[in-house]
Amino acid sequence: MSDALQKIEQLRQQAMQDLPAATDAAGLEQFRIRYLGSHGAVKDLMDLIKQAPADQKKQVGQRANQVKQEVTQAFESRKVQLAQQQQTEAMAVDVTEPGRRPQIGNIHILTKVIGELTDLFARMGFAVASGPEVEDEFHNFVALNIPEHHPARDPLDNFYLAPAPEPAGQSQQLLLRTQTSTVQIRVMQSQRPPIRVVIPGRVYRPDTVDQTHLFQFHQLEALVVDRHVTLVDLKSTIMQFVHAYFGPQTQARFRPSFFPFTEPSGEVDVYFEDRQRWIELGGCGMVHPNVLKACNIDPEEYSGWAFGFGIERIAMRRYGIGDIRLFVENDVRFLRQF
Ligand code: DAH
Repeated sequence: MSDALQKIEQLRQQAMQDLPAATDAAGLEQFRIRYLGSHGAVKDLMDLIKQAPADQKKQVGQRANQVKQEVTQAFESRKVQLAQQQQTEAMAVDVTEPGRRPQIGNIHILTKVIGELTDLFARMGFAVASGPEVEDEFHNFVALNIPEHHPARDPLDNFYLAPAPEPAGQSQQLLLRTQTSTVQIRVMQSQRPPIRVVIPGRVYRPDTVDQTHLFQFHQLEALVVDRHVTLVDLKSTIMQFVHAYFGPQTQARFRPSFFPFTEPSGEVDVYFEDRQRWIELGGCGMVHPNVLKACNIDPEEYSGWAFGFGIERIAMRRYGIGDIRLFVENDVRFLRQF
């Protein structure tokens, strides 16, 4: 065998021996530079062709090209092999590794309280009703006996929405409802007495946020309309609720008050032992005849009572929560406690 052919064979053997030693990207690159790079060993083979005597040029050339191809192919398949190996390694699961503990959430305290309240009232025969949070002036004011120039309609006390232009030039003013009493109207418009519903829902008022106020909170509204419904029913139902929900020793009191949609009207306070003071739950009263009339219910035949209590206040009293802002701050240290 000529010198040149021997050198070619040596190189082939060396390359095939070195290739399995390349076990990662860096090793592969080293191999490539050493054998296949522009100054690599395979390139040198091409010089052998030039130097070979004329009668051997063809043979040396053929063999050199074969080896070049062989080394290149072996390199390429090693590359593919390593890439595949890496991929399977990456996908491999180490079954001895400790698992990730799934984070388990819990129901928000307000959702929980709303569930407790509607359950409690369900046992007293109340169905649950609901209505939209974006309301019109008819349901938020007019039908509730709150006339055009009443101070409760002041833009500073309400979140009015930009009026939607209507073709007839008459635009319907919309607002975020300030009270769930709006749903009293919707219920009376769609059902005939006897009516016995509670309405949990979110309401909006431009109040300054502090320990007991938010500009968005929840109310539990109740409405009963039937023949011969009296103030006694109202007071006894509320006292039954207070004792069932807060405990039989809980002190509650009624104060005379005024609301346009009830006559007479009252406010209910519950005593907060931990703060040693009375805190207002909300208003109540006998449904005003004008409200019944606005819903085509004859006040000569039917009477009704209603209340609207703040759900956050109820939750604070029940679960000893000191600050109303905690309900909306989404601090998991608070939320996890319930
Ligand atoms: N809607 C009143 C408010 O948000 C609360 C209220 C008072 C509701 C008397 C009633 C009621 O149903 O009869 O301040």
